[in-house]
Amino acid sequence: MNSDEPTGTGTSDEVLEYYSRNWDRIANCYDLGEDGLPLDPAWYRKRLYNEFLQKHKPESVLDIGCGGGWSVLDALEQGADARGIEPVAELKQHGCQLLEKHDHDPDRITQDDLASLSSLDDESQDCIALLSVLPHVPADNWQAVHEDIARVLRPGGRLIAAYRNQLFDLYTFNSFTLEFYDKQLWGCPPCEPLSGHIDDLKGLITNPDLPGPYFTAARDKSFGALDRVKSNPLEMPAFLSRFGLTSEAVRFYHFHCVPPLLEKSVDDLRQINHQLELSMSDDWRGNFMAAIFMVEAVKS
Ligand SMILES: C[S@@+](CC[C@H](N)C(=O)[O-])C[C@H]1O[C@@H](n2cnc3c(N)ncnc32)[C@H](O)[C@@H]1O
Repeated sequence: MNSDEPTGTGTSDEVLEYYSRNWDRIANCYDLGEDGLPLDPAWYRKRLYNEFLQKHKPESVLDIGCGGGWSVLDALEQGADARGIEPVAELKQHGCQLLEKHDHDPDRITQDDLASLSSLDDESQDCIALLSVLPHVPADNWQAVHEDIARVLRPGGRLIAAYRNQLFDLYTFNSFTLEFYDKQLWGCPPCEPLSGHIDDLKGLITNPDLPGPYFTAARDKSFGALDRVKSNPLEMPAFLSRFGLTSEAVRFYHFHCVPPLLEKSVDDLRQINHQLELSMSDDWRGNFMAAIFMVEAVKS
């Protein structure tokens, strides 16, 4: 990372350094394994994003936090006038090379931060894509960021954004479940007298201390230690409506057919998960069984 690289919406240096260090893997996470199944859940994000592009055919797209550039390429190949913004130099460079390789102008991707939205004119954008970027932005900044997104979208313009699913914590049956009871379900004023009962609840869960705060399936284990904001898919339409953004769809990916702690005991787990991904993106079960959700919203 160079010291002159942009920051601005509060993404921590640890996150940007993580992406800088692991740029090669992040940029190339859309491959299939020898068994023909995706190696990374990002493949399903790409799939849902392409369905969005096919359905709505935006004239132009501003793809913020575009990583290795694949989603910019997807939008270009589907006929949109697409541009990308990426703060991490190595990823931005990969994106530029990818576009060039496919005969597109590499300058369509620039090195910048989500904060650069504030310099865009009101109602100047047709579509904004934030694909797994907002979880890196501290929750305190979400109000301002969403205000800016709504401000720059033209009426009828769309936001597509991927968020981490907070409700998935109920499904994991571990320390995350306890945290969900403590901070979310029992976080309401009438439940204040229940605070002592979190230890009782802990006694009901077989693995209350697992996975632990640094659990991650990623090879670089430091990713699990990064702060990433979770959101409630049931609340997101109401949250977005405060900014004049009407939710048209909430779609799910990164499915788990069993809680993560049971994964080792299931045969054909990846195949079952793959079938869930292909058939259940719009199913209510995604609220609990999927770790990520995407919202498609239109500006009124
Ligand atoms: C999980 S990756 C997703 C990359 C890409 N959107 C995709 O779908 O393949 C998250 C990306 O968000 C970028 N990012 C994190 N904070 C950002 C910010 N404040 N502004 C712009 N991009 C940011 C990271 O550099 C990284 O490329």
